[in-house]
Amino acid sequence: MNIRQATPSDLMGMQACNLQNLPENYTMRYYIYHMLSWPAVSYVAEDNNGRIVGYILAKMDDDSDEPRGEPHGHVTSISVLRPYRRLGLAKRLMIQSQQAMADVYRASYVSLHVRKSNRAAIGLYRDTLGFGVHEVEKGYYADGEDALAMRLYLQPSV
Ligand code: ACO
Repeated sequence: MNIRQATPSDLMGMQACNLQNLPENYTMRYYIYHMLSWPAVSYVAEDNNGRIVGYILAKMDDDSDEPRGEPHGHVTSISVLRPYRRLGLAKRLMIQSQQAMADVYRASYVSLHVRKSNRAAIGLYRDTLGFGVHEVEKGYYADGEDALAMRLYLQPSV
């Protein structure tokens, strides 16, 4: 299984993977926006035939309401096709993206939202990667479920 930076030609495969795995879906225009604006922080996992079996779609945010307007990364979406789960792919995708956020864009932290019932993803973020819960956003999702807004502080490696 190969992990590499996503390119515009991967976007259809990423969208197909997202549609199979999650109820939060996005227009192709939104995928393209990520890829053109912050090409260094989105990655794909591909099998030996070059089929996309997992992806991380990520971006940079620079909130003007933050104290110093610090740049930070944000994971818009990550998923892995069912037969390829529990192989460490999501962990590798997250680490690659986090490293690029810190090294390329000097992100001080990475944020994301996750459904509070999503045991697998919370296990990945909290137990494997060390994210903490920043706040609970009530009724964040379209069906009314609460989100955990999670954060991990980053160190550049270069
Ligand atoms: N139950 C409990 N913990 C889990 C589970 C699970 N089912 N799956 C992963 N983890 C945790 C474990 O700590 C695991 O380490 P271990 O295998 O050594 O015990 C660790 O996460 C790393 O697991 P990976 O193998 O890297 O994770 P995987 O490649 O299976 O992908 C993912 C995890 C992305 C959550 C996958 O289950 C998936 O695609 N789910 C559906 C889509 C989804 O929920 N995406 C996240 C939504 S939030 C967002 O996108 C920002």
